[in-house]
Amino acid sequence: MTIEAAHDRALVPAAPAGAVIHPLWVRLTHWINALAVLVMIGSGWQIYNASPLFPFAFPPAITLGGWLAGALLWHFAAMWLLVVNGLVYLLLGLASGRFRRKLVPIRPGEVIADAKAALTGRLAHDDLSVYNAVQKLLYLGVILCGVVIVLSGLAIWKPVQLQELTAILGGYDAARYVHFFAMAAITGFLAVHVVMALLVPKSLRAMITGR
Ligand code: HEM
Ligand code: HEM
Repeated sequence: MTIEAAHDRALVPAAPAGAVIHPLWVRLTHWINALAVLVMIGSGWQIYNASPLFPFAFPPAITLGGWLAGALLWHFAAMWLLVVNGLVYLLLGLASGRFRRKLVPIRPGEVIADAKAALTGRLAHDDLSVYNAVQKLLYLGVILCGVVIVLSGLAIWKPVQLQELTAILGGYDAARYVHFFAMAAITGFLAVHVVMALLVPKSLRAMITGR
């Protein structure tokens, strides 16, 4: 078994105190992404309100852009930040082996056990350099949602130029629903994620200072 695998199974001790938990590139891309995603959600909700898919609208106070055209400008501006930053994170995550080391494998049995432990307050968070199975699932899931929301966003932005992409997603109207549900999943992730970041001691500090 590799040292990483042993580490994953907690057979070797926690990372020594003072070791870097999140390298600089993870912290930079994480916070740029957080900013871009908040702008995308706020402006996306305003865009949604101009032509709602469901019988509800988002309260204007929590939307961005003021009106449809303003929101579209925000959406298309932050889109570049989101995509370029996201590509840097994905490429470095794959090339550095971070994804392989930290996000896989995900075993269903471990997810169930860790979810139970988390819900009963018995899940240990003492080694922040190792993700538990629920974290792995959620992080990998939100990364995939990021890919889906960008592809469906491109499909509804350029449905003529990118018609093959739009067709793969089931056409313009279906792509709008895909885009919306990906947003809903990311928003749901974010709610849990931010609460956990505030609850788990030192996790927020580690994502800011690296240690
Ligand atoms: C490359 C990235 C993206 C592109 C090109 C894009 C493009 C678009 C376009 C063209 C619309 C208008 C849809 C319509 O007229 O019905 C839209 C709506 C929307 N976007 Fe994005 N988007 C992107 C990323 C995101 C992200 C990251 C989020 C949130 C996490 C998001 C959330 C929304 C929401 C909530 C709507 C309103 C849904 C609707 O009513 O159709 N978008 N987006
Ligand atoms: C502004 C609100 C946010 C806060 C306070 C926050 C906080 C954190 C913290 C403290 C960690 C490290 C926690 C740990 O050890 O598990 C983390 C990791 C992570 N966060 Fe966030 N986050 C925010 C927004 C987001 C958003 C919007 C996304 C994606 C849509 C996101 C995706 C991730 C991912 C994928 C990781 C794991 C990164 C890696 O190890 O490569 N976060 N976040």
